[in-house]
Amino acid sequence: MRFATALTLAALALASLPITALAQSSASSQVVAATPPMGWNSWNYFAERVTDKDIRAAADQIVASGMRDAGYVYINIDDTWEGERDATGLLHTNSKFPDMKALADYVHSKGLKLGIYSGPGTKTCGGYAASLGHELQDAQMYAAWGIDYLKYDLCSFIPDVMQKQAPHDEAAQMRLMHAAYEKMGKALQSTHRPIVYSLCQYGWDSPWEWAPALGGNSWRTTGDIEPHWDRIYTILEQQAGLEKYAGPGHWNDPDMLEVGNGKLSLVENRSHFSMWAMLASPLLAGNDLPNMKPEITAILTNRDVIAIDQDHLGKQASRVYADGEVEVWTRPLSGGAMAVAILNAGSDRIATHPFHLNLAALGLHGSQQAKNLWTGSTMQLTENMPIELPSHDILLLRITAPK
Ligand code: GAL
Repeated sequence: MRFATALTLAALALASLPITALAQSSASSQVVAATPPMGWNSWNYFAERVTDKDIRAAADQIVASGMRDAGYVYINIDDTWEGERDATGLLHTNSKFPDMKALADYVHSKGLKLGIYSGPGTKTCGGYAASLGHELQDAQMYAAWGIDYLKYDLCSFIPDVMQKQAPHDEAAQMRLMHAAYEKMGKALQSTHRPIVYSLCQYGWDSPWEWAPALGGNSWRTTGDIEPHWDRIYTILEQQAGLEKYAGPGHWNDPDMLEVGNGKLSLVENRSHFSMWAMLASPLLAGNDLPNMKPEITAILTNRDVIAIDQDHLGKQASRVYADGEVEVWTRPLSGGAMAVAILNAGSDRIATHPFHLNLAALGLHGSQQAKNLWTGSTMQLTENMPIELPSHDILLLRITAPK
């Protein structure tokens, strides 16, 4: 499927919404996800193997590791919890999740929140029952269980509805997709429970243009992340230019974190985490929490970096300039502060291609005092200073009083 022309389709989607729906969704989104949601999701590590026991262990460990106190509160069950619907249409869990209400109570007893997963088609991506024709019933069931977050994944809605009802008409297919996301958005709102609504449709048809008006608190901007640098960097590149769409209650989602997964080096884990914080992304860890190495815990709980992500202004970073393979991103922070990330995306040390910091290009005048958020040390930045970084490493800075 090709990406449709965003502007026309977004205009159509907005035109079809009553003004009251727009006003309500923006009012409620000020409460839900005022800063990017933080937590953990089962998919990146467990995929379809996840069980009730794993979710409880993740909740235990998120507390024991200090992650909860650093801000990670959502424990999100991804695909494969679903069983069959009964004669009344009520969806039951499968044998891996014997009692969802009891699980929610357990997670809540730890001061955490519980997330769940479904989609607008008949089936989820894993082939389990999804919500088509049962949106309100499912939303009410989530609320009754005490669910706090829903990831809603397009998947079989493409063949089930879009291709069936509007073959060869891409614009009509996109309108069907908008309507499906609006339907669940309204169903969630009608429960009056604050449930974060996370759209997962891989960035098709520029969801940043229309998802907030449908009640979306976040929307995936790309296809799936994978635990290796090339994929992470490819996703990062696709975020430049999307900054104007993010803000309190509505966030671009470059996908869940891979920190601690796969073949990422320590430096790459640090750079990935730093850049997701610069992007005001939801910070959903996806690693094996009970077996987390101390250096991974240290990355995920770096308070200074988390504070960038969670800054109340909610301004996502822009890429200000690139010099060869070195990229400089900045974001304004509350109180007039500024975050600066200098990333060596190349495979060589910068020493072989000397990089010199251009403060004027960042709107700064002369020497600045900055805090290095990974070492904690204070440094003086001067115009045109050379900066040396190993391949894939990052210098993440906070300038509290930029001049
Ligand atoms: C994908 C989604 C992943 C995961 C998976 C589950 O579509 O992007 O994050 O949820 O489905 O089947």
